[in-house]
Amino acid sequence: MTDLVRLERHGDVGVIVIDHPPVNALSIAVREGVIAAVGLLAADPGLVAGVLSCAGRTFVAGADIREFNAPRAGAASTNDVCRALDHCPKPVVAALFGTTLGGGLEVAMACHGRVITPGGVVGLPEVKLGLLPGAGGTQRLPRLAGAAAALEMITSGRHVPAAEALALGVVDEIGTDVLALAVERARAMARSGALPRARDRAVPDFDRAAFETAVQAVQRRARGAQAPVVAAEAVGWALDLAFDDALAREGAAFQSLRAGAQSRALRHLFMAERLAAKSPVAAEPWPVAQTGVVGGGTMGAGIAVALADAGFAVTLVEVSEPAVAAARGRIEAVYTRQVASGRLSGTEQQARLARIGYATELAALAGADLVIEAIIEDLAAKQDVFRALSAVTRRDAILASNTSYLDIDVLADAVDNPERVLGLHFFSPAHVMRLLEIVRPRRVSDAVLATALAVGRRLRKQPVIAGVCDGFIGNRMLAKWRQICDFALEDGALPHEVDAALEGFGMAMGPYAVADMAGLDIGWAMRKRRAPERDPASRYVPIADWLCEAGRFGQKTGLGWYRHEGGKREIDQAVTALVEQASAARGIVRRAVPAARIEARVLAAMVNEGAKILAEGVALRPSDIDVVLVHGYGYPAWRGGPMQAGDEAGLAGILATMREIHAECGVGWEPAALLERMVAEGRDFASLNV
Ligand code: 3HC
Repeated sequence: MTDLVRLERHGDVGVIVIDHPPVNALSIAVREGVIAAVGLLAADPGLVAGVLSCAGRTFVAGADIREFNAPRAGAASTNDVCRALDHCPKPVVAALFGTTLGGGLEVAMACHGRVITPGGVVGLPEVKLGLLPGAGGTQRLPRLAGAAAALEMITSGRHVPAAEALALGVVDEIGTDVLALAVERARAMARSGALPRARDRAVPDFDRAAFETAVQAVQRRARGAQAPVVAAEAVGWALDLAFDDALAREGAAFQSLRAGAQSRALRHLFMAERLAAKSPVAAEPWPVAQTGVVGGGTMGAGIAVALADAGFAVTLVEVSEPAVAAARGRIEAVYTRQVASGRLSGTEQQARLARIGYATELAALAGADLVIEAIIEDLAAKQDVFRALSAVTRRDAILASNTSYLDIDVLADAVDNPERVLGLHFFSPAHVMRLLEIVRPRRVSDAVLATALAVGRRLRKQPVIAGVCDGFIGNRMLAKWRQICDFALEDGALPHEVDAALEGFGMAMGPYAVADMAGLDIGWAMRKRRAPERDPASRYVPIADWLCEAGRFGQKTGLGWYRHEGGKREIDQAVTALVEQASAARGIVRRAVPAARIEARVLAAMVNEGAKILAEGVALRPSDIDVVLVHGYGYPAWRGGPMQAGDEAGLAGILATMREIHAECGVGWEPAALLERMVAEGRDFASLNV
């Protein structure tokens, strides 16, 4: 055994205790320890049965993610742990609590019985790390829970609550004192001679056609992600192959995914999310109970809902009674929808609504610990609000702005003690989107910053700290991303071709589809973003002119409408015809732009801007930029974010593309000094992630 695993005696039952904080991850030492403990249990004539349990806050939450980058050859695997349990001649019952995930659930399923606390959850979230369950999970779960449920659980990675796990047959019993229950159950099994193994069971009867349809749905939804597709295939092996053959295939598939770029990227993101949420300052957060929101539009209402959902008391201030009524209507509509879809109970709806009060005077915020301003993006109007808040709130009340672009240092000037002012940039819809940019102006105190991070965590958001600049991290990256796409249009690409290239890269939606949905007309966007520095002679088709046409066309018929009605092909044809017409009138032949060139340029432009953001200290580390883009802007998680994607593509190539772009586009497109330095030193951005 090892320091991390011990064998305790509860009469004639041996209790194996894993004690490896914080989440009892199955590191090599833990795996070796459990195998040794099972050996001792089997050999000890004084013990008739065993229990597998954990110290601390949870049963095993999975294999140790940090060991995946450089696995040690010859070390005991999680499969070896399962094999030891399979071969144990005495029954072993797993005592589950907290989050029994991944390898943790796989080991539990190799035990002969499982009991769980009422609040416990189980799951196989490996697909979220670009993996599949690699220790028999794709084989044992279908035998316990059936093919359809196993497919759903494994390909979604969803956490399954105790009651559902019981109904599915994943666990055998629910009880509060889970250790006592497991000991009792193990002893009873020993007495009756029961030694049931999941591997020996047949998969319960299932509907093959429905299963195939579900597999196809997984393939459709994957949008470039490999893991769910391979995981679905592996569940299929449980239906068609002998256990050991299927296990060998599962193992090979796991190793191949583990060594691939997608899992590398998703593991990077897992660590990045946790690093971004850590406070960079030593100060203790202040307590926050009473909150205020100024402005009850879409953002303000969403923020109020997010606060009420997290248990904060909220006072929402609007300018007039009709505006209050409108805000209340928005908030009630959110909760009504949640109740209608079964996500929220009527009682919980009432409790949350009761936490939100309304007022028409800022004086109602006199007792607030935190106020979030969410009025229109107008500096002067926001300054007025901050000036007024400074007069009515306590001197230690934290004053936050939800601005997406504006200079928060200027807002802080309007307040008597500016160290209490910062940005809390929510994304729409604010009660749904996980990203929260915490914008750190020059004078904000450490305690205020620490409090903002703590509030972010309590809201169950993904906080990321950003410095003050135009657009902070996310919108500044987005601006370059959009601009380089607009250049592709000028080069001859059509909007739907740019969208297709980026969707092929894995983006949730191409930029023009997003613009359609958001109701922008393309012509407007183009006029705003045309780069005056570009040499007019080199500018191919005056697509910009055409785009203005298309914009009017869009206004009349609604590009978004066409897309929604499934008439995408029609609109693409109509747009193509317009371009051809405009080109012909000018005697120019449209040149196609290859998707690979669009992808490469978008990536280079983003990595380059990221490098500038880092050099200016607007982001603390490259992985924070990745977290922002993935959680707020639909960047594919399996690419890990643009900085990780840049590392994966090779920074020398990125720099070369950037030099090309600079030569064509001029001012504003210079290769970042940091990027040049990284390439010269042969380093990657991952080396800056501390
Ligand atoms: N390996 C290594 N470290 C892990 C870990 C893991 N599997 N799971 C969590 N940790 C670490 C986190 O990095 C964090 O470390 P830090 O304090 O130094 O930042 C710490 O544990 C606490 O984690 P969280 O901040 O995430 O704590 P929460 O309480 O919010 O969440 C959790 C706990 C639900 C367990 C969450 O951490 C989680 O989802 N973990 C990943 C679970 C997972 O994906 N398991 C499958 C692994 S792959 C596998 O098992 C392969 C197998 O099939 C062979």
